[in-house]
Amino acid sequence: MPIHTVSRVLLAAGFTATALSAASQAGFAGGGHGPVVISRNISVSYDPVYDNGATPLSKVACSGGSNGLMAKGYTDFASIPTFPYIGSADIVEGYNSTRCGECWELKYEAPTVKDVIYLIVVDAAEKGWTISTPAMNDLTYGEGEELGRVNAVARLMPQSYCGM
Ligand SMILES: *[C@@H]1O[C@H](CO)[C@@H](O)[C@H](O)[C@H]1NC(C)=O
Ligand SMILES: *[C@@H]1O[C@H](CO)[C@@H](O)[C@H](O)[C@H]1NC(C)=O
Repeated sequence: MPIHTVSRVLLAAGFTATALSAASQAGFAGGGHGPVVISRNISVSYDPVYDNGATPLSKVACSGGSNGLMAKGYTDFASIPTFPYIGSADIVEGYNSTRCGECWELKYEAPTVKDVIYLIVVDAAEKGWTISTPAMNDLTYGEGEELGRVNAVARLMPQSYCGM
């Protein structure tokens, strides 16, 4: 789904900048998942391993366990509401991490462009974030593959922003 569609969906659902900022000020912690992290600077790259909707969740860290995505009824990448906006992050320690399935806003700002995507974390990473190719391209106005890696700001969001 293109990012602009996501923005329109959010507007249609009545979310406003004011509601967002109120959620941040209230220290929203993503449904009690992990420590409160409102916003952080991250390094983002991409890997086509997250592009294929048919990949079963058993292939990623956020598979089983009571915190895994399979416990919530999801089966493969395509079943994740934000797919293809999925990826791995170093905040996920591994299997059964309480951070599995968190909804994050990634914001990219360059001199001439600025864009935002909402993404569900499905996997662990050693360092930084690694997202699908379409997510990388939509985050950077189509320049993701060319840039390879970018700095972005990640912000923990209410699960509703990711359709969960
Ligand atoms: C991210 O980095 C910028 C500039 O380097 C800094 O001004 C900002 O406070 C940082 N934000 C976070 C959330 O760490
Ligand atoms: C997963 O983590 C939770 C605590 O967050 C724990 O209760 C549970 O036993 C762990 N393991 C499995 C397999 O669910």
